[in-house]
Amino acid sequence: MRHITVLNSKGGCGKSTIATNLAVYFALEGAQVVLADFDPQRSCLDWLETRPASCAPIAGVAAYNDGLRGVPRGTDIVIIDAPARCHGRELTDLVRRSETILAPVLPSTIDMKATGKFIAELMHVGKVERKQVKIGLLANRVREHTLIFEELSDYLRRSKVPYIGSLRDAQNYVRAYTRGLGVLELPEYLAWPDWAQWEPIISWLESKRSQP
Ligand SMILES: Nc1ncnc2c1ncn2[C@@H]1O[C@H](COP(=O)(O)OP(=O)(O)OP(=O)(O)O)[C@@H](O)[C@H]1O
Ligand SMILES: [Mg+2]
Repeated sequence: MRHITVLNSKGGCGKSTIATNLAVYFALEGAQVVLADFDPQRSCLDWLETRPASCAPIAGVAAYNDGLRGVPRGTDIVIIDAPARCHGRELTDLVRRSETILAPVLPSTIDMKATGKFIAELMHVGKVERKQVKIGLLANRVREHTLIFEELSDYLRRSKVPYIGSLRDAQNYVRAYTRGLGVLELPEYLAWPDWAQWEPIISWLESKRSQP
């Protein structure tokens, strides 16, 4: 059973949006997928409640209550949605459960500074020091050809942690969330630019580079 955790202590950077879209990708691949929501805000579980029955099935677990105890046997992939302000003991606990961590970062000075501190804390978690978990950074809500996106790209390229891709700022993410879908389930004519941006992220997740 593989555990992929979407994590950044900075609030609002797109963790839940990315977690739901990751769950959809693996479900469409035919995997048994569980979305484990560690945030009592329940963004992922709310999304699951609106998911149409005709779509590829994804199970939900209220992990903010019971951790991963509710994850059924035979699950292939657990996508963990972490809460904001995750530090110290709580952070160590989530890292302990993960083989892969994806950290979204927004193109904003506040978010880059906060992420710098978060990455510094993450690097001191024992499991990360022992290289038993792979971490990737993901730019989210980017607008091409803006100065701040260039700054973010420079910042992510200079980071010790691999920079694996970027997602644009698009209403498709809002639309998909509202309907219990992922952008991969929106019509191609609407979502092809988003599909293309998921490709490098998925190829990293499917490669050994993201697995210890
Ligand atoms: N790529 C995107 N394009 C457009 N809107 C986005 C994108 N990613 C996230 N959003 C929007 O940004 C807001 C924050 O996203 P989300 O709730 O996924 O972040 P979060 O990191 O889970 O927040 P929290 O820290 O509160 O859990 C939401 O309104 C969401 O719809
Ligand atoms: Mg969230």
